[in-house]
Amino acid sequence: MKRTRIVAGNWKMNKDYEAGLSLASEIFPMIESEVQHDLLTILFPPFVHIHALASLSAGKKAFAIGAQDCSANVSGAFTGELAASMIKSAGADYVLVGHSERRQYHGETDTLCYEKIKRALEAGLRPIYCIGELKEQRVAGIFEEVIVAQLEGALAKLTATEMAQLVLAYEPVWAIGTGLTASPEQAQEVHALIRSWLAKQFDIETAQMTSILYGGSVNAANAKELFGMPDIDGGLVGGASLKSRDFTEIAKANH
Ligand code: 13P
Repeated sequence: MKRTRIVAGNWKMNKDYEAGLSLASEIFPMIESEVQHDLLTILFPPFVHIHALASLSAGKKAFAIGAQDCSANVSGAFTGELAASMIKSAGADYVLVGHSERRQYHGETDTLCYEKIKRALEAGLRPIYCIGELKEQRVAGIFEEVIVAQLEGALAKLTATEMAQLVLAYEPVWAIGTGLTASPEQAQEVHALIRSWLAKQFDIETAQMTSILYGGSVNAANAKELFGMPDIDGGLVGGASLKSRDFTEIAKANH
């Protein structure tokens, strides 16, 4: 069995409703006609677009929709929050958990991420758990410890069956939105570390079957080299996912 190759577009807080719909209406047919290999494309629009985009991609096996976050709670008095079950009922199948912007601006911890992962799994959503070191941590040479702590903090209490539902994304914070990309070798080193942690924590099969995406200034020019590394199964793309042509070129590069 081969790992699923994935290209995911994280739109972050961009695109009003009509603009989001028109972007998705460009992306779906473009990828459908130009990408010939097996690939799962997931769009992570703002919450308000989820239902419309899920309708637009309904019945297309190569596409899925996800949310950028979910609540760690099931339901109740949590003003402004969205439960994983609500997101699922709107048509999403995936959810990002622990994106560095949530960690940085909303103080999200690994423990909170674990709770969100559990709520997502209970609701039938597949979490993409995001990890990555800060620039200072890379410079100080402690990125391996940081990555392992983020894995342990959120995943150690999962069973192998639960873990099989997850996708991981390595996004070095210093590479997000900066135009600085990790070199293919730097990214591969961390992806291999993540996979060996999975093998130790769960089992070899889980480690072999988990898709691990790279994120951080992925673009049409650097995607092919990154995706060519043995432990990089695809990309989590920010800025370049807002342009249908660039995003399609990135999708084409992932095989
Ligand atoms: P950029 O591709 O804009 O660097 O963003 C990466 C990211 O954070 C995707 O989740």
